[in-house]
Amino acid sequence: MRAIYPGSFDPFTNGHLDVVERALKVVNHLIIAVLNNTSKKNLLNMDQRIPLIHEVLSKYGDRIEVESFSGLLVDYCNKKKTNVVIRGLRAVSDFDYEHAIFLMNRKMYPEFETLFFMSSSENSFISSTIIKEVASLGGKVTDQVPEAVNKKLLEIYPRK
Ligand code: PNS
Repeated sequence: MRAIYPGSFDPFTNGHLDVVERALKVVNHLIIAVLNNTSKKNLLNMDQRIPLIHEVLSKYGDRIEVESFSGLLVDYCNKKKTNVVIRGLRAVSDFDYEHAIFLMNRKMYPEFETLFFMSSSENSFISSTIIKEVASLGGKVTDQVPEAVNKKLLEIYPRK
């Protein structure tokens, strides 16, 4: 089975890595689809995010594909000829948003399915937003992001 794991991944965290590793136990091929949202102010641009994710997931070889997408996720699913999407659920607070986008996506694409993976407890509090905030204020995020991502964050926000 092939599936798409969409997200902003700004930056890719250990929570995302956890979802990828769980998903690879179920699907053969995973397309990491990085949302190219020009209206959102991102920390990392596409030319930084995509190679970083490649580097972090290099050990999975050709089971992983990383590309950017823009526009509707359902259109991207059609283009990639798969109806299966992977998302992570950290806590109950994620559920309402995920449920709403799932229902809307299925309305537009009746074959659309989402497989949800629950975060492990040590990753359940991690979000890219929190990581960006802590790193930008000089805090340590070594345990919450892959090494390559930590290196990039330190280049942007050197610690005193
Ligand atoms: O990591 P994120 O930011 O929670 O990912 C959200 C994402 C990329 C899955 C979602 O915003 C999305 O699918 N955007 C593409 C536009 C789209 O299809 N919107 C309709 C869903 S209601």
